[in-house]
Amino acid sequence: MTQDEMKQAVARAAIDYVKGGIIGVGTGSTANYFIDELSKIKGRIDGAVASSEATANRLKGHGIQVLDLNSVGSMDIYVDGADEITRHFHMIKGGGGALTREKIVAACARSFICVADQSKLVDVLGKFPLPIEVIPMARSYVARELVRMGGQPKLREGFTTDNGNVILDVHGLSILDPVALESDINQITGVVTNGLFARRGANVLLLGTENGVQTYNQP
Ligand code: 5RP
Repeated sequence: MTQDEMKQAVARAAIDYVKGGIIGVGTGSTANYFIDELSKIKGRIDGAVASSEATANRLKGHGIQVLDLNSVGSMDIYVDGADEITRHFHMIKGGGGALTREKIVAACARSFICVADQSKLVDVLGKFPLPIEVIPMARSYVARELVRMGGQPKLREGFTTDNGNVILDVHGLSILDPVALESDINQITGVVTNGLFARRGANVLLLGTENGVQTYNQP
């Protein structure tokens, strides 16, 4: 099975969690496969909340109604990929730069269904550079603070988030306490949010492997 086939397999498996109502939808290639699967059962749902402009466009392209989060309140599920995930369901996200909206939509969902191929499962987070969304004028200040914390921040060149901000990708972190680090980084003035999803991690992991989709539930 290729990596793409594993992503497609977990996207299909996530459809079992769609029980109607409004669905929170993530961003990225795995989320895109999920949108393609969702379009096949779109008559069973009331619409979707998108975590990025790209996702909103893809949903609309499939004829799925995109709703404003403020008019929705809470949702049963949020389905999204990850750049890294541990067996404790802590994640790094934001490879696609949509981390802030992803975190907001996920916060409004009762269950976060993470869909990922096996390459994303890690023992310790941090090999994948940690994305941090930053207000543009605070870029240098935040970068200096991140160096003090032991990271090597690099500006994501030529990229602006849907919120008009920049991304610093932080290399060289070995994240042993993701819950604490998520809070500490968010305390730096000028940080909008960081790509650690640890305080609110995934509830279910659908992992695509050579042997099919493995399901892990948060205890
Ligand atoms: C986007 C994300 C994605 O979920 C993450 O980058 C994984 O992407 P893919 O499904 O393409 O591997 O956090 O901001």
